[in-house]
Amino acid sequence: MAIRANINGRMCTEAEAVVSVFDHGFLYGEGVYETLRTYRRKPFLFDRHLRRLRASASMIDLDVPLTGDCLLARMEETAADLNAEGEIYFRILLTRGPGDFCYDLNACPEPTLVIIARPFAPPPEEVYARGIRVSVVSTTRSYPNSINPLIKSNNLLPNALAMREARKRGAYEGVMVNFRGEITECSQSNFFVVEQGQVLTPPLESGLLAGITRELVLEISAEAQLSTRECVLRVRDLLDADEAFLTSTTREVVPIVRVDGHVIGSGQPGPITRMLLDRFRTKALELSS
Ligand code: PDD
Repeated sequence: MAIRANINGRMCTEAEAVVSVFDHGFLYGEGVYETLRTYRRKPFLFDRHLRRLRASASMIDLDVPLTGDCLLARMEETAADLNAEGEIYFRILLTRGPGDFCYDLNACPEPTLVIIARPFAPPPEEVYARGIRVSVVSTTRSYPNSINPLIKSNNLLPNALAMREARKRGAYEGVMVNFRGEITECSQSNFFVVEQGQVLTPPLESGLLAGITRELVLEISAEAQLSTRECVLRVRDLLDADEAFLTSTTREVVPIVRVDGHVIGSGQPGPITRMLLDRFRTKALELSS
């Protein structure tokens, strides 16, 4: 597979891309990450991703050890000799770094900063054309006083369990509720419904990642003069919705047409969802020209 990694400034092939087993990212899951993709080969919304990376890092007492320009230059270097014609997928990981077996912050003098670049593989076109099924899973989104969902953390075990549960039921994604039973988001994406022409998504207070795509879709929806707001949603709201969709960097806007055995709206991707997907793609190209 064409894939390149950069570990603390050192360029690596796939086989060379290894980090220490003493890294607290490995030992204790102490790390944060970002996933980006390019449009027209330019990292999309880099500034917003950088802002979120810094925010996630500061919530676990880490500093991103590079300026934005240096990080961008390092990403470009990582992808430079990638054998890819299309768009590029980037994953940036920042962990506490190697150190002794303890939680003392002084135990790890050097954080580990990894950049992975590989060809971007979009979801199959039929995902957009026909829509997907989600399943409401039993794994709840983490409690904000435990691992705050605002931290884009490498602690992804609950998300992995949620996705596994969804996949076992033949669903494409798992919808996760919080400890109060409010919908938060999906295991790897944010969640929206359309109800009587209104575009609704759970507020950050329900405990979810502040998705960059979510933020842009809220902006695009408001620009399109649609009534757009954040509001607490429950599973009943999903079942009764006219339309539903999920958003993420790698998936853009994906129509949801079924929840477990239940059909959403007409069972086809809804008109507002399709319009938002079109506008999102147009905007992504415009912002990348
Ligand atoms: N996932 N919620 C969760 C839990 C996520 O992991 C993601 C992103 C999102 C969407 O955020 P954004 O629009 O900023 O990509 C929401 C990325 C794509 C990943 O895990 O690789």
